[in-house]
Amino acid sequence: MPNNKFTGKILWRNRFAFYLLAVGSACGLGNIWRFPYVAGENGGGAFILLYLLLAFTVGVSILIAELMLGKKSEASLLKITHRVSTTHKKPYFWISRLTLFITLVILSYYSVISGWVLHYITQFVVGFFRGDTLHYISSLNMKVLTDNGWLQFALASVHLIVAGLIVGQRITNRFEKILTTFIIPVFVFLFAMLLVRSLSLDSTPEVLRFIFYPDFSKLNLRSLGHAIGHVFFTLSIGVGALVTFGSYFKAEDHLPKVGFRVMMVDVMISLFSVLLVFPIAFSIGEKPLTDPSLLFEALPRLFMKIQFGALFGLGFFICLWAAALNASVGLLETLASNYSERYLKSDRKNSIWLITVITLGFTIIPAFSGSALKDVKLFDQTLLENIDSFLINYLLPISGLGMAFLFFKALPLADQKDLFLDEKTESSYALINYWQAILKFAAPILIAAGIILQIIALVRG
Ligand code: PHE
Repeated sequence: MPNNKFTGKILWRNRFAFYLLAVGSACGLGNIWRFPYVAGENGGGAFILLYLLLAFTVGVSILIAELMLGKKSEASLLKITHRVSTTHKKPYFWISRLTLFITLVILSYYSVISGWVLHYITQFVVGFFRGDTLHYISSLNMKVLTDNGWLQFALASVHLIVAGLIVGQRITNRFEKILTTFIIPVFVFLFAMLLVRSLSLDSTPEVLRFIFYPDFSKLNLRSLGHAIGHVFFTLSIGVGALVTFGSYFKAEDHLPKVGFRVMMVDVMISLFSVLLVFPIAFSIGEKPLTDPSLLFEALPRLFMKIQFGALFGLGFFICLWAAALNASVGLLETLASNYSERYLKSDRKNSIWLITVITLGFTIIPAFSGSALKDVKLFDQTLLENIDSFLINYLLPISGLGMAFLFFKALPLADQKDLFLDEKTESSYALINYWQAILKFAAPILIAAGIILQIIALVRG
């Protein structure tokens, strides 16, 4: 198998497995854990429609541009900005620095949430060995975690160390093989089964109305920014991971098609996640739908009703963790390859561990936000909520925009056309102008509007 010059990673031959991998790199906690509660927080149907519109326009356009940037340059983000700065004689380093900083903070935040998943895995195992398995599982909740910063920190450390080992030992390929041949099929099966069970609950008609009937009066000043931020987060836009990923593609791969398919699958999974979680949440009734604990509180109540529920629950959370691990490996690899390219003399393994330790340092804030730091509140929200919001709703869209900017600076028009147009895909000739217009005009305007409206909402209180 051929090797990628930039990462040394083996290129995949099997196209289907490669697609699975592309989808796997986008899908994760963002779809299954974050989307349901963000959609709940913003009132359901109208927000979901807004999210879909943005995913099909701004989201997929920048996704494609980032992949192209990676494929054409075959270099890390730092190197690309270096080249662009030299050719244009202007310093564009802030783009890659901002992006890599965001990547680091996202990885630390993501590790804390992945730690929650790990905690649930252990709880399902404990449940097995208890006489009152069902009762135990049904009473699982997040309080133990939110109250205990050390536990969250320890779980996040385990997650990060496993990710570090996978990247450091260069077994990413092997891990990805396990993911595509085993974990993803099992996950699809479990997910489908749970979805059928959840949709057979009495609350489903009410849920379908909530999701598919857009009540625009439920949108508020923050909704546009929240929708853009979530689209970027769920599609992994604006962190440089797609640049790395784009460099794995071969000359004959048509990136707009790849990007579109990845976006479609990602969006479908997000919608299925809402359909999975909301019927349970509606039938419990006592909890608001706007809380990061939504998935974790809702699912155990479904497993309780299913035969062998503890076993399925365990399987589901293991698959979810594997998906989260895959996303973290991608983030860590991006950080490590940028770092070791910048400081060529530094040993790759050392740089991975250095980055892992720095990331771990950053996890302290989200991990302790519900315990030791619980009285530190900003804008009436905990530190975890503030990090989530600042990172995803403000910084990520800015850095996504930075990528689009870099794309235009790094690739001349001839290259852009060459990568977008495809004789076998007639629609590519019709779509190229829209794509360029979205990148140049719609994306900056919408992102700026989303940020300004959120600031107005903050000031108003
Ligand atoms: N897209 C991933 C998810 O939805 C999160 C992620 C963001 C992964 C950025 C890599 C980079 O879970």
